[in-house]
Amino acid sequence: GNSPQQALIKLHEKAKEVYHHMLVNTAAGQLALDYLLERGLTQELIDEFEIGFAPNERQFLQQVFANEKVDSTLLVQSGLFVERENGELADRFYQRIMFPIHDVKGKTIGFSGRILITPDYPGENQPKYLNSPETELFNKRQVLFNFDKARPVIRKENTVFLFEGFMDVIAAWQSGVKNGIASMGTSLTSQQIAIIERVAGEIVISYDGDNAGLKATDRAIALLDEHSNLDLAILQLPEKLDPDEYVQKYGSEAFYELAYHGRETVFGFKMAYLRQNRNLSNEKEQLDYVTDLLQELAKVDSLLAQDRYLTQIATEFHLSRETLQQQLSEFKQKRR
Ligand code: CTP
Ligand code: MN
Ligand code: MN
Ligand code: MN
Ligand code: MN
Repeated sequence: GNSPQQALIKLHEKAKEVYHHMLVNTAAGQLALDYLLERGLTQELIDEFEIGFAPNERQFLQQVFANEKVDSTLLVQSGLFVERENGELADRFYQRIMFPIHDVKGKTIGFSGRILITPDYPGENQPKYLNSPETELFNKRQVLFNFDKARPVIRKENTVFLFEGFMDVIAAWQSGVKNGIASMGTSLTSQQIAIIERVAGEIVISYDGDNAGLKATDRAIALLDEHSNLDLAILQLPEKLDPDEYVQKYGSEAFYELAYHGRETVFGFKMAYLRQNRNLSNEKEQLDYVTDLLQELAKVDSLLAQDRYLTQIATEFHLSRETLQQQLSEFKQKRR
């Protein structure tokens, strides 16, 4: 067809091809390719995810489309260029490893570019990742990286792994976890949740193990609770690692094992999360912690699970099970 949308998609598909070619076939892409191979990617993965490289030139992509006589209005609408003060266009992405972003049908609608730091290009004050701006095609709040490829596997397994970043999805894929998608950062949106809920019954939140990731996990739990009926599980990584770093350090098999046998419950996550920054040898902080835990426990649906956790809390803090049970019942009442 010839709709403006389709013309924009065609332009993105072309840009994707050209960036990919630059990465895998040219001297200009050599350092970027070395960097990716160094990070454990393979030629197959680079092809599978159609990763590319935008060279360090401000007129590179522009020249490509000039040769094809593409209308300049379309170029502006694509978001792939920025308008300079003199009205001329310049490439938005340069000196960046390019991750194409697809819609649910697999059409290319945007990019995210990771800066490539080299001795000649320190990249100071530049963001690590730069994304396409809002365009007719691209609204970051409504996009999930790799959803198009993961969808059949998500359906089959009824489960989806939610990661923060591109490299996490790719590392998981390489490890055999092919139902992974990324929210592209830590701010999951209700629109993204709606997309996920159409195909999955369960979501495994697999954010980074650093403080930002833990905080984002807590927020995602609340959001998913509010906006979906999805079953939740948490994949918590040790040593503040992110999934990609975990695969680098411990290998694909260890990651696969963790993904399928090392998941935690939401309550298990909360026990660890709420314990942070609390001195449990202090009596008041200990009681605050137990109170917070019981409030979380009141949200747990399974009575059997509640029973088990109550015993655990009673044992750890030398509290009477009856009192705990009574407090829990009060909190459950309040939730009704
Ligand atoms: N992100 C972004 N803009 C930034 C930083 C991050 O859009 N300035 C998004 C990217 O999708 C990134 C994700 O948030 O993949 C997670 O960020 P972070 O954990 O900081 O980066 P990593 O994915 O771990 O990046 P890398 O491994 O390449 O260093
Ligand atoms: Mn290729
Ligand atoms: Mn992170
Ligand atoms: Mn990360
Ligand atoms: Mn990382």
